[in-house]
This record gives sequence, structure tokens and C-alpha cells, in this order.
Amino acid sequence: MTRAPAPGHGGMASTRTHSAEKKRNSVTKAPTRLWGGRFEGGPSDALARLSVSVQFDWRLAPYDLMGSRAHARVLNRAGLLTDDELERMIGALDDLEAACRSGEFRPAVADEDVHTALERGLLERLGALGGKLRAGRSRNDQVATDLRLYLRDHARQIVSRLVELETALIAQAEHNLGVAAPGMTHLQHAQPVLFSHQLLAHVQPLTRDIDRLRDWDKRAAISPLGSGALAGSSLPLDPQATAAELGFDAAAPNSMDAVADRDFVAEFLFAAALIGVHLSRLGEEVCLWASQEFRWIEMDDTYATGSSIMPQKKNPDVAELARGKAGRLIGHLVGLLTTLKGLPLTYNRDLQEDKEGAFDAVETLLLVLPAMSGLIATMRVNTERLETSAPDGFALATDLAELLVRRGVAFRDAHEVVGHLVVWCQVNDKDFDDLTDDELAKVSPHLTPDVREVLNVQGALASRKAYGGTAPDRVREQIAALRAQVNDHASWAADSEA
Ligand code: ARG
Repeated sequence: MTRAPAPGHGGMASTRTHSAEKKRNSVTKAPTRLWGGRFEGGPSDALARLSVSVQFDWRLAPYDLMGSRAHARVLNRAGLLTDDELERMIGALDDLEAACRSGEFRPAVADEDVHTALERGLLERLGALGGKLRAGRSRNDQVATDLRLYLRDHARQIVSRLVELETALIAQAEHNLGVAAPGMTHLQHAQPVLFSHQLLAHVQPLTRDIDRLRDWDKRAAISPLGSGALAGSSLPLDPQATAAELGFDAAAPNSMDAVADRDFVAEFLFAAALIGVHLSRLGEEVCLWASQEFRWIEMDDTYATGSSIMPQKKNPDVAELARGKAGRLIGHLVGLLTTLKGLPLTYNRDLQEDKEGAFDAVETLLLVLPAMSGLIATMRVNTERLETSAPDGFALATDLAELLVRRGVAFRDAHEVVGHLVVWCQVNDKDFDDLTDDELAKVSPHLTPDVREVLNVQGALASRKAYGGTAPDRVREQIAALRAQVNDHASWAADSEA
């Protein structure tokens, strides 16, 4: 669903109503509560508005229904639901699921949360039998289970979108293989690199992000269902069976930890925040590359925006939004850790605050990733500009110094000699290429005419041939290795999405 109606509007008594009428209103229009028994009246408006979570936790409905089916089967095996009752229960849950999907069943303003809304739907379909499902189950173990299911499912969707971005970057790296670029440190020309090497340097963090989510998934694959409110159940339930039915690896070994633990949300939010940071750094590079000063790439019109006043503008809004969204992703992590800090065992209502940040993190990534993939896949690389600027800023100075080292000069001295040469060139407004034999010799006797052999970009690139370097052969191998990794990532996401 999109958004449930705003809570507190239309369903609750106004504070200005006469008190008798107020009492009547709050009774007749009170939320469908799961805990009415010991209370005389309904909750105050202010409490109801504060407490309601259905406007966001409705996203958990499909997972709550999965959990309900598994729980119904366990109740049946425990002899608490007859075979006939189980069949009717599963039928009603299936029907309710279809009604949720079609939008025919929607949460009402009066439903406190997703669990309340779905119990109402079940009661509407089954009458009294619907009330049997709650045996041995609490919203505390239910909500923790639902959120694990939701996040495990969405982690796969995020990995699928990350795979698309990896693929787009690798395709550009392959397409532009051989193109030299100015490699930078401190945003200053440092040493030439292959532009492909730089593109792949943005793929590597994404592979770690995916590994991180896969590793997170192992710890998230523990089922809290059966823990009840906090102590487990006196009914003969089978938590391992529900765990298996829901695709978890095992049931939680401690019911108190199971309902109190939100490590799986915090860890997920860290993974999401770091993905956000990686997208932000890539976004920042794209902004630079597309600028007039760099002119390394041109964005496709379909992934760029214009200005309402300056007709000539072509703006990198996709990259900027990717950069900007990192802020909210980091915020969700910090927000949750702050909520968790200092909470006593076990469940506390503070834990309801775990969901909006988690949902927003998921939705933010699912929004940003396809746009970034499209931006990267469609950008055109200005190879001429990259090639000509690759040696700018005396970027081959290290190659020259290392040549002298190979000829027996101490690196300290070689560094000094080449440093002098750079200054001499700057003062005389010359590049390394423009120097005569005499001018070289004047700076240092070590600078014989044949040092020119290392003063070319292709040579400099080819010489960086140790593992991990920017030499074309190494970059080709890197592409092959990444392709294999990406296939593995894609099959993990598809496997479990099915
Ligand atoms: N809506 C709650 C949450 O998100 C779940 C209900 C548990 N509530 C309770 N009063 N024990 O955490």
C-alpha cells in the first residue's frame, strides 16, 4: 500500500465534545484493539495518535500473513486447531492476502497496527474461529519476525539493483578499455591510470556491499516466532518448525533476546548507509566528470536535467540526489542505535521506532540505484579529452624518478632531481615533452636523453603490471574476475527472491 489514512482524523472524538458524548464516541469508535479486556474505556485521542503505526507497518502485511499461516499449522500439530479449523483458517488467510493485494482490504484509521488490522480481517472472514490464531503468539515475537522477513526479502531486491549498477560500470570499463585518464590524489593530477581501472574502483565497494548483505542475511535468518511476549509459550508449539516453514535457518535460542533484539535492523542500516556512502562518492565523481572543467563524460539527456532560467544548463541531478540521500541513510542508522542504547530487556514500545527508518532505507536505495545504473549505462565518455589530459600536471614524474632508481640512483636523490626538473619546466613554461637534451643535462647529469623512453602514458600504464595495478592486462583480468563475482551475486538474489 502507499499510505494509510493519517491517524487521529475522523475516527476519534474531538477534545471539544461534551464528555458523555466523548465517552460514547471513544467507545464506539475506539481502535480495533487486541488488548481491550482489562480497560474500561478507550484510549485518549492523544495516545491513539501517538501509538498507531499502521500507516507505515502495513508494509509488513504479506510477511505477517506468512507468519500466521506457519503459526496456524503449528497450532494444528499441537492439537489446538482441528484439521477442519486449520483448513478454514488457511483459506481465510489466503483470501485476506488476496484482498490486501487487490486493495479491497485496507487498514482502517481505527486499526492500531498491521497485526490488529489483519486480525480484524480474519475475524470478518471467520468469526470466532479467527480469534484462535493468537494463541501462543504475541505481537512482540510477531513484529520481530515480520521485520526480519521483510528485510531479508528486500535485501535480495537491493542486491539485484546493485548487480545492475555493477554491470553498468563494468560495461563502461570494457567499452573504454585502453583509454588513459589522469589519476588523482588530493583531486590533483597524480599518475596516469586507465579510466576503466577507475570505473572498476567503484565496482569493488559494491561487491563488498553485496557480500556484507549476504553475510548479514545469515544472522538475520533466525526466527523469533514462538518466543511469545518474552518467555516462550506453555502451549506445545514448535518454533523450529515455524522457522523452517518461513525460510529461516533456525529458531531463536533465547526468547527474551528474540523479542528485544534489533541488531539485525541496525546491521542492515549500516550496510544500507555504507551503500549510500558509496553511491555518494560515485555521484560526486560523476558531478566532477560532467563539469565544464573536467569534460570527461557527457550525460545522456534521459538522465540529466535542465534549468528553469539558464537554457544552456545540463545538470547531474541523479548523481546529486544519490550524494544527498546518503545523509538520510546514515541518519537512520544513528537514529536506531540511539533508540536501542539503554533499553532494558525485553520488548519496549521504543522498538516500534525501528521500522520507519528501515523502510525508508530500503525504499531510498530501490529509488536511487536504478537511476544511478541508468546514468552510468548511458553516459558517453570523452576519450579524447581523457587521453590528452592524462599526462598533464607532470603526471609522469614518478616514472622518471623510478627509471633513475633502476639505474642505481637513490630514490631520495632521484626525487630531488625530478622535482628540480618540474620547477624548471614551470618557470620556463615547458612540458616534459618539450625539453631538449641540453636542458635535461643542465638540470642533472642523470637526465640523459634516453630517459625519454618512460615519458609516455602508454608505457607508464603498461609498467604498472603487478597484481592490482592499472596495466591493461591486469585490468582485463579484473573485469573477468568481477564478471564472475557479479554472476554469483545475481544468482544469490534470484535464488532467494524466487
Ligand atoms: N506495533 C508494535 C511495534 O512495532 C508491535 C506491537 C507490540 N506492542 C506491544 N504493546 N507489546 O513494535
